[in-house]
Amino acid sequence: MTRLHVNVDHVATLRQARGSQYPDPIPAATICEMAGASGITIHLREDRRHIIDRDLELMRKVVTTTLNLEMAATDEMVHIARAVRPDICTLVPEKRQERTTEGGLDVAQGFDFVSIAVAALREAGIRVSLFIDPDIDQIEASRRCGADMVELHTGDYCDAPYSHKDTEMHRLIEAAKVASGLGLRVAAGHGLHYHNVRPVALIPEVEELNIGHSIISRAVFVGLDAAVRQMLEAMAER
Ligand code: PXP
Repeated sequence: MTRLHVNVDHVATLRQARGSQYPDPIPAATICEMAGASGITIHLREDRRHIIDRDLELMRKVVTTTLNLEMAATDEMVHIARAVRPDICTLVPEKRQERTTEGGLDVAQGFDFVSIAVAALREAGIRVSLFIDPDIDQIEASRRCGADMVELHTGDYCDAPYSHKDTEMHRLIEAAKVASGLGLRVAAGHGLHYHNVRPVALIPEVEELNIGHSIISRAVFVGLDAAVRQMLEAMAER
């Protein structure tokens, strides 16, 4: 069955909005794990707008499943990751003004700096995933620069009007096949919610989904434990 990694950034977003000590993403991570999540994902952004360094350090101590750190491929982040040693680092593009990660990492264009970051992380024993659009060029470049895994950006599929959903789904299916054929492990994520997750969870090569906003949003109404369990049910629905 496809594994669920819950992105708890938005618990920290709520905290940072008021500069308070609550809500704390650390107990949120534990609740997600107890509800059946196979991993916790956090994004330490350059501007520290949600997750802060203290969260990363405590997560490393508290998370008992898999800790996935999303980060830009910068010297600062590579240095932090090598010190804290999450289980996986997912390299993402990052722009200060964006509301959330927009588009995949252009590995083909930024091949040299991405390769340096991948090598530095792998040397520290950290697995590396690259968050990319479902494009064959990007997948081939990811393989060449030594990544273990790719996370396919599902944003275009999620945002597509009904008439284009099948086309975008086909892109994801083909990309997953090609990546797996090249020996890369395959994850997917971004924009997934309770009503669009199932077809992505069904792609045989996709072993893991990273989902944040929809789960934390539903938690406001039903609680985090129920929100995670309901997502696991939505992924497994027949
Ligand atoms: N995967 C990556 C690489 C991301 O940057 C994000 C957003 O932080 C997610 C998955 C989760 O996206 P969403 O919050 O839309 O579920």
